[in-house]
Amino acid sequence: MHESFTVAGLTLQNRVLVASGTFGYGDEVPQLVDVNKLGGIVTKSLSMKPRDGNPAPRIAETPSGMLNSIGLANIGVKKFIEEKIPKLSTFSCAVIANIAASSVEEYCGVLEKLDPFEAIAGFEINVSCPNVKEGGLSFGTDKEKVALITKELRRRTKKPLMIKLTPNVTHISEFALAAESEGADAVSVINTIIGMAIDIRTRKTKLSTVTGGLSGPAIKPIALAKVYEVYRAVKIPVIGIGGITSWEDAVEFLLAGASAVQVGTYNFVVPSAGVTIAEGIKSFCEQQSISDVGKLVGAVEAKRDLSVIESWL
Ligand code: FUM
Repeated sequence: MHESFTVAGLTLQNRVLVASGTFGYGDEVPQLVDVNKLGGIVTKSLSMKPRDGNPAPRIAETPSGMLNSIGLANIGVKKFIEEKIPKLSTFSCAVIANIAASSVEEYCGVLEKLDPFEAIAGFEINVSCPNVKEGGLSFGTDKEKVALITKELRRRTKKPLMIKLTPNVTHISEFALAAESEGADAVSVINTIIGMAIDIRTRKTKLSTVTGGLSGPAIKPIALAKVYEVYRAVKIPVIGIGGITSWEDAVEFLLAGASAVQVGTYNFVVPSAGVTIAEGIKSFCEQQSISDVGKLVGAVEAKRDLSVIESWL
């Protein structure tokens, strides 16, 4: 079975990418992972200027997950172009640049700087970081802002454009529709869920910023439900993210409606997880005589008549 396929205008050799913020800029790990066996790499969010991020502590472990409050620390687009793109150009997997910004102008500026580089196959737009005062969630929880950012970026690139959505809203599908209506090629579902942890002895919050973004297996059922909701609302592909640690998890996301998946937090435990998961999906399809992985996308069957729950979504 040859897996290579096109999703949202991206040609991927398989359906497993590594998520932004969990794989650096993709160039630090080749001794640990054969990155060319991944479907793609999504870079840490890039802003126009370098950012130090939030003060420590900005990571806290939680049951089946982790809280982060990195605050979009990154090297800035100039250094990325000078120091990272030459190495990324040698990879055969797709490299997707994730962009974060505190204004519409900044999103546009960063995208325009990256767009000419062949090494960048497409863009994922972060309108969902819960750890910054400007941009991030304040954009991602405002449908008009999501639509405006998508529209302005769409005008500036012909490359695949994905909008990474926050689950910290009532109906995520409304935000997916806003992105779709302004020309997004796909939506990435989901970013982290706002959470908090307290050290009961010091009575201090475990994160310097009080709250952070929860990721890891703890959020997988939530992410699956959001993917299912969005898949049923939009026509553009959904990229599923949230607590994936195994090929079985990835298949669940495909069945819920994801055309491809991103492995995130689990990369910190097993950096080569994405490759193993891609191989696992392939073996599963071979064992099940599924000739095209795409046949799994959205193929979930509800235990009972879907119309019963349809009104809840
Ligand atoms: O704080 C951070 O850098 C996290 C980013 C995100 O969740 O998008």
